[in-house]
Amino acid sequence: MKRFEHKTIVVTGGGGGIGGATCLRFGKEGARVAVFDLNLEAAEKVAAQIRADGGVAQALKCDITDRASVDAAVAATEAQLGPIDVLVNNAGWDVFKPFTKTEPAQWDKLIAVNLTGALHMHHAVLPGMASRKAGRIVNIASDAARVGSSGEAVYAACKGGLVSFSKTVAREHARHGITVNVVCPGPTDTALFAEYKEGAGNPEKLMEAFTRSIPLGRIGQPGDLPGAILFFASEDAAFVTGQVLSVSGGLTMNG
Ligand SMILES: NC(=O)c1ccc[n+]([C@@H]2O[C@H](COP(=O)([O-])OP(=O)(O)OC[C@H]3O[C@@H](n4cnc5c(N)ncnc54)[C@H](O)[C@@H]3O)[C@@H](O)[C@H]2O)c1
Repeated sequence: MKRFEHKTIVVTGGGGGIGGATCLRFGKEGARVAVFDLNLEAAEKVAAQIRADGGVAQALKCDITDRASVDAAVAATEAQLGPIDVLVNNAGWDVFKPFTKTEPAQWDKLIAVNLTGALHMHHAVLPGMASRKAGRIVNIASDAARVGSSGEAVYAACKGGLVSFSKTVAREHARHGITVNVVCPGPTDTALFAEYKEGAGNPEKLMEAFTRSIPLGRIGQPGDLPGAILFFASEDAAFVTGQVLSVSGGLTMNG
């Protein structure tokens, strides 16, 4: 029996780099996967690949910043794939500029995608999990939440907020058999990271600096993340909640 057989999984930003790799791994491990993304075409590609590999998947257009869109996608998932067992809040977005060069309108969008979006998802999914007395939530933050990151002040603030929000919800819902944990990627080779490199002005120099400062000697690949995410989503992590794990080649080492 596969680890996630008969489990319904939602991954936001499932059409992207880390989200796509996570959806594919869940599909291989027997889950029914709901691939949520603002970019429906990207979500469709991931869902089609899961189905081609013999799995069950559905792509859903969802803008996590819009509560009506979240509610519609959650309802459609539950109608098509059954009650949600696992929620992975992975969708994210960033602009890369020193804080004093950013504008309040950008802060609003950063907060909407990186913090409020995850709140909408929790608010939509938690009541059902609580009534079933079971559920797993895995939130994708960032090492920027733990140690800061130049050019990402508001993003880091949102991810730091997501970490403390996760710990609080973990406490509130432990009695309902729901666990909430956080995975913090470090620099990982995705579309988001490509924008970061461009924003930094000298992509080659930045790559050299990262490669030098990451003890395991390379930046991450999307496929480095699903192992930790699926662990927190699995029965093996039944007694683990409110925890934060960096998957960043040792870039940060937190006690
Ligand atoms: N790549 C890195 O270096 C890195 C480092 C630390 C943390 N992270 C985090 O990992 C997560 C995944 O990022 P990635 O690197 O795979 O990026 P990505 O750009 O490849 O994927 C992000 C996905 O989120 C989707 N998305 C954006 N706004 C959305 C919205 N409002 N509603 C629904 N979907 C939306 C995008 O369409 C995209 O498919 C993000 O939370 C990001 O902050 C990434």
